[in-house]
Amino acid sequence: MNAWQAWASPLGSAPLVFAHRGSSAALPEHTVAAYERAAVEGVDGFECDVRLTRDGHLVCIHDASITRTSNGRGRVTRLTLAELNRHDYSTWYHEKARIANGGSVHVAPATAADGILTLDRLLTLARGTGRPLRLLIETKHPSRYGGDVERRLVDLLARHGLTAPAVGSGVAGSDGSGSGEPGPGEPGPGVSVTVMSFSARALRRIRALAPEIPTVFLFDIPTPSVWSGRVPEGADLLGPSIRVIRYWPEIVRRAHDRGVGVMVWTVNEPADIQQVRALGVDGIITDRPADVLATLGRNPAGDRDGTGLAGGSATRTASPETDGGRLGPCPSTTGVSSPGWLG
Ligand code: G3P
Ligand code: CA
Repeated sequence: MNAWQAWASPLGSAPLVFAHRGSSAALPEHTVAAYERAAVEGVDGFECDVRLTRDGHLVCIHDASITRTSNGRGRVTRLTLAELNRHDYSTWYHEKARIANGGSVHVAPATAADGILTLDRLLTLARGTGRPLRLLIETKHPSRYGGDVERRLVDLLARHGLTAPAVGSGVAGSDGSGSGEPGPGEPGPGVSVTVMSFSARALRRIRALAPEIPTVFLFDIPTPSVWSGRVPEGADLLGPSIRVIRYWPEIVRRAHDRGVGVMVWTVNEPADIQQVRALGVDGIITDRPADVLATLGRNPAGDRDGTGLAGGSATRTASPETDGGRLGPCPSTTGVSSPGWLG
């Protein structure tokens, strides 16, 4: 059994659903609010992009600069965490939505301006949900810090106790209770990490630094090798874009014939959701996790068996966050629509 099979096997043949940058069609990407919403919606995991700041912190942001997703300017790698935290990473989204809607606001109000989301904070959030969650962490390259991105990532994951193989779906916390905040270095209940990158070199670094962490090779243009279902050295799974799958759906079967899992991004349209489901992909990465879960016939809050318990009734453990309400009911599931510019 390879790292990927160990990671996925508790879930059988159903595709896992991942919130791309959080529930990012509904709320500003890479914010606590977007990830908390995704957890409430019942996703199997979170996707995030990471970059290194000038002073060596991993922050969750897609673009090389903060211009699009904040009220500031500048390159992430040239700014310190303190400098990045002077800006707001939510208001841009709501303002864009307001303009797209002709001045009226049809989306949730802006969340508090609380700076840029660090990966450390996202890991703590995931571990604190009290439910199984799989994190897909994409290291962005090229970076002026090169391999330091992966070295810092593995250091951080080790501090969170997340460099070991995945804890199976629904497994309780290290003390067996499955409730409460995990201590330093302890894995949260069922929290696991997979590293993704468009850079095969970055994945080889992860393989060398933390051999038990599964890895996904992302691509938008298939080489003959990945077209035939092979993974590059250091990778366990293939991560084609939905564009690739529309043109070359046979990649999924070819990968599976070689025992290679397939995670597809970014799957938002109903026809695409149906296609990847029919193809039997292993993971669906989406900006619209609630829509994907509904299409897959999944009930809210990760309820796979209709019991109301995330991860299934046999494995669910009590959680003060999900059961007691820190995450609470999702306020924007009623009366709030996504802005028109998201399509
Ligand atoms: O992680 C998969 C997908 O997110 C890759 O594309 O540009 O959204 O990071 P991008
Ligand atoms: Ca990404």
